[in-house]
Amino acid sequence: MADTALQTTGLWFRYQEDSPVLRGIDLQVPRGQFLALVGANGSGKTTLVKHFNGLLRPWQGQVFVYGQETAGRSVGELARQVGFLFQHPEQQIFSASVRQEVAFGPHNLGVVPAEVDRRVEAALARFDLSAIANRPPAILSYGVRRQVTLASLAAMDPPILVLDEPTVGLDARGVGETVAWLQELHAAGRTILLVTHDMGLVVEHAERAIVLSEGGIVADGTPADLFGQPELLARASLGQPPVMALAQALSPWGLAGDALTVETFCRAYEALYQARSLASTPPPAQEGRSTTGGDDRASQRGEGQP
Ligand SMILES: Nc1ncnc2c1ncn2[C@@H]1O[C@H](COP(=O)(O)OP(=O)(O)O)[C@@H](O)[C@H]1O
Ligand SMILES: [Mg+2]
Repeated sequence: MADTALQTTGLWFRYQEDSPVLRGIDLQVPRGQFLALVGANGSGKTTLVKHFNGLLRPWQGQVFVYGQETAGRSVGELARQVGFLFQHPEQQIFSASVRQEVAFGPHNLGVVPAEVDRRVEAALARFDLSAIANRPPAILSYGVRRQVTLASLAAMDPPILVLDEPTVGLDARGVGETVAWLQELHAAGRTILLVTHDMGLVVEHAERAIVLSEGGIVADGTPADLFGQPELLARASLGQPPVMALAQALSPWGLAGDALTVETFCRAYEALYQARSLASTPPPAQEGRSTTGGDDRASQRGEGQP
């Protein structure tokens, strides 16, 4: 099988005649990559990813899955290779019960019944749905319906997963479970294309980030490359990961301001701590920044020493 899981060449798309929404997208996603697609609302993320399962077709250009062009291949055929999570659960759910909904995908792919049952029970357990497996999805909250769609995707077990804002509406536990699942899939060699506004997720998990702005790719690199470009972030309406904002706020105290992840932050803190005793270092003068505690800060920080 081809080494490139997903590819577009010169992809243009328009919903209406005079306003192209995608403007010549050239993108190549190697097999096994964990790629984040980010950008402002309306930049074209959903429009782009819907091309990978055939829901949308190019106006100009080509789309390939494992090196094979999608033109002429049905959505059902592409679903064997590309599992797709819609941005809104209501676009995806139509079965009478949670269990039936989760079973629909693998059943439709022709998976043998015993294996469908095994996958369904595992997916229900994984996303905390076993106790409500017989309920109609329509009566469930948005977050739980989102979990139903994640379980459906898990039960299909596709080699490529395209997820359009999967963590929106989930509680903290749901986000943690989803992220752990994606990490497992990534470790097992699956290709993951994650559309998200959660910059913390991008820095902690993605190997590569693509930034879309007004239908074009304006940046393509590692998350560290991306978050090192403040003008680009502003232009694409992207925020900073929370850990990065914290590291920058602490940089006047000598902490490396480029720490992006919890792990790199901890390493920066450790390096600083080893270089000098935090407790005995007076804080630098801060102009124009409101502070609390004044002279007490050094001793307060001293109390918190590891
Ligand atoms: N079904 C549609 N008909 C017409 N315009 C659409 C449709 N869906 C999206 N658009 C427009 O296409 C642009 C890109 O939308 P979308 O791909 O949903 O962006 P994103 O996912 O980045 O928020 C927006 O200007 C949006 O209004
Ligand atoms: Mg979208």
